[in-house]
Amino acid sequence: MKTPVRVGLIGLGFMGTTHFRIYQAHPLARVTAVADVDPAKRRGDVSAVKANIGEGDNTEPMDLTGLQVYEDGLDLIRDPEVDLVDICVPVYLHHSFALAALAAGKPVLCEKPLARTAKEAREIADAAEQAGVPCMAGMCVRYWPEYAHALELVRSGAAGRVRSAAFKRISPDVDGNSWQNWFMQESLSGGALLDLHLHDVDFVRQLLGMPQSVTAFGVRGIRSDHGIDHVMTRYDYGDGTLVTAEGSWAPPKTTPFEMSFQIICENMTLRFASDGYRILHEDGRIETPSPTKPGMPTGWHVEIDHLLDSLSNGRAPQMPLDEVVEAIQVVEAEAESIETQQTVNLSSKER
Ligand SMILES: NC(=O)c1ccc[n+]([C@@H]2O[C@H](COP(=O)([O-])OP(=O)(O)OC[C@H]3O[C@@H](n4cnc5c(N)ncnc54)[C@H](O)[C@@H]3O)[C@@H](O)[C@H]2O)c1
Repeated sequence: MKTPVRVGLIGLGFMGTTHFRIYQAHPLARVTAVADVDPAKRRGDVSAVKANIGEGDNTEPMDLTGLQVYEDGLDLIRDPEVDLVDICVPVYLHHSFALAALAAGKPVLCEKPLARTAKEAREIADAAEQAGVPCMAGMCVRYWPEYAHALELVRSGAAGRVRSAAFKRISPDVDGNSWQNWFMQESLSGGALLDLHLHDVDFVRQLLGMPQSVTAFGVRGIRSDHGIDHVMTRYDYGDGTLVTAEGSWAPPKTTPFEMSFQIICENMTLRFASDGYRILHEDGRIETPSPTKPGMPTGWHVEIDHLLDSLSNGRAPQMPLDEVVEAIQVVEAEAESIETQQTVNLSSKER
């Protein structure tokens, strides 16, 4: 029986409470400390937490008995009973906490999008590399069972060449769902463009590599102060493949959350939508695989399991941060494309 990884969790909002409950049920983890600036959360009262991707609220009180409870995340990082620092605070705070944890030599799980800008994300990636300390970004869609399954079918060659791929991530309005409404301030969250759409950008990058250029269309300030709340982008690979992604948190709160894809390949089409996951073969066969593993209903569970398994076995988790930095660079190119109403060439940009 392996010794559980001692976890310190900074930020007990929607994602922090989600991670907390996953660690609690995991044999390779023991949460030893939590930190939050909100006194109610430090008492375990998370009744104000709202789900922001339509997966249900995490408002059941948290039992923090026996844990060290800090107001300042830096105190948690200094706690000798903490082996792994899990950062679930608003995006604009990721950079400082991640750098502090890495400087202390502690492995990090930092929620997506790793940092508010590609420059800050690069600094985190460089700090992790220089310190030789594992640092994983919470790019949970990489671990979402249907996405991971589809990626493997393409990467293995079984699906054949990708001819077109379309992705959607549409959330109901998240105004009022975050601590001090930080989602609604572009300078803090990056708007739906960074916070939400990044998942699909990262997946596109995983599937096909860096695009040569992007052409994006977007609308600012539908819900947030002036963030891009709805985006549609074409990723050009210079070979005729048609790749698009749409991201939004603009529809009203009554709208169901949607994440979906349709990847049309030479041998098969991979479809994931609210009616399930299907593989439609060119020879007429239809498969309905269930790639979800028992006890791991979401990508968050798979992601954390991978991290704990890696750390327990003395391995670094498989999450090259360079890839995440590149995905944020693509998002920034999309913002530039929306602003200038021009196609933005990525191959000429410095990485
Ligand atoms: N992977 C996913 O699917 C997913 C989904 C939602 C959110 N997220 C990410 O998770 C992170 C947190 O988002 P959220 O939805 O949980 O936000 P939230 O507003 O629900 O929670 C943020 C928490 O951080 C606390 N906090 C604020 N400043 C702090 C500080 N200086 N020190 C300690 N605690 C502080 C707040 O009190 C709050 O409890 C963001 O990076 C977000 O993009 C990821």
